[in-house]
Amino acid sequence: MSELNKIAMKLISSGKGILAADESNGTMTKRLEAVNINSTSENRLLFRETLFSSESMREYIGGVILYDETIRQKTKSGKSISDLISSSGALPGIKVDTGAKDLANSHEEKITEGLDGLRERLKEYYDLGARFTKWRGVYNITEKYPSKLAIHSNAQALARYAALVQENNMVPIVEPELLMDGDHSAETCLIKTSEVIKKCFEELILHKVDLSGIILKPNMILSGNQSKEKISSEEISKKTLECINNSVPTEVPGIAFLSGGQSEIDATENLNLINKNNNTKFIMTYSYGRALQQGALKVWSKNTKDVQATQNIFNHRAKMCSLAALGKWSKELENK
Ligand code: G3H
Repeated sequence: MSELNKIAMKLISSGKGILAADESNGTMTKRLEAVNINSTSENRLLFRETLFSSESMREYIGGVILYDETIRQKTKSGKSISDLISSSGALPGIKVDTGAKDLANSHEEKITEGLDGLRERLKEYYDLGARFTKWRGVYNITEKYPSKLAIHSNAQALARYAALVQENNMVPIVEPELLMDGDHSAETCLIKTSEVIKKCFEELILHKVDLSGIILKPNMILSGNQSKEKISSEEISKKTLECINNSVPTEVPGIAFLSGGQSEIDATENLNLINKNNNTKFIMTYSYGRALQQGALKVWSKNTKDVQATQNIFNHRAKMCSLAALGKWSKELENK
């Protein structure tokens, strides 16, 4: 096993998954203001520190993706956030892209930026404790999108990013996210997601990325949130597995899905069925942002000093996700 493969396995094996707490200050401000909390750097730290010091970190969280602000912050006792995460046995990670901008000559689409100066930034993040990284390419689904241009340019950026990250001894999470916004069918999502992922691997291979030392973070195969089609979790799991089977090379150790706006329960139920029906050799787990934090944020916002109440909700959610990553979740367990 290569060192990179060992890191990847530590993040995703034995029912562990990844906590995506890498919301940019802009996104975090939206999340905090939605629950009437001021988005100050102290409040952003307080909420995140509350999660990162939860009991469930030891058992269910293999790694935490941080935002640049957070990896530089310290707890009240003077510990760095990376040390706080490592002390629970999880690995600190960092989002290294600088966001999605309008794609020239296809302005309704996005290209993710952040390659300039990346090699130098990666060295700094390694010194700050990061052992894995994230870069998100984002695509809309419509009749004409994603275009070949968006598919190609984002795949190339993801591959250049992944090669640089491995050069700096960290595991790149490769995240191509096809948004659930729109009225498309699940079948369209399947076709377009497969095309995007295949192109990503074509570029990753061209850039000589060691596929055993990456983690793929895709969307599940869902119908659009404006679609009339009602698709069951069973169908979601089958279509998602079909997509992974037809587009991911077998060297990849595992898949850590994003939640992408699904409710906490839907994201858990769908992951559980993916694992129950898993006919691939891949580990299938979670790298959830909203689907791990939503409930905890709501409770925290009612009394930010009640650490235990917030942690109880987070511990439960993390446990449910972990059971789903093992295919052992059931709805009844939600109420226990
Ligand atoms: O890039 C997306 C995040 O890492 C995952 O967030 O689970 O809320 O979609 P989400």
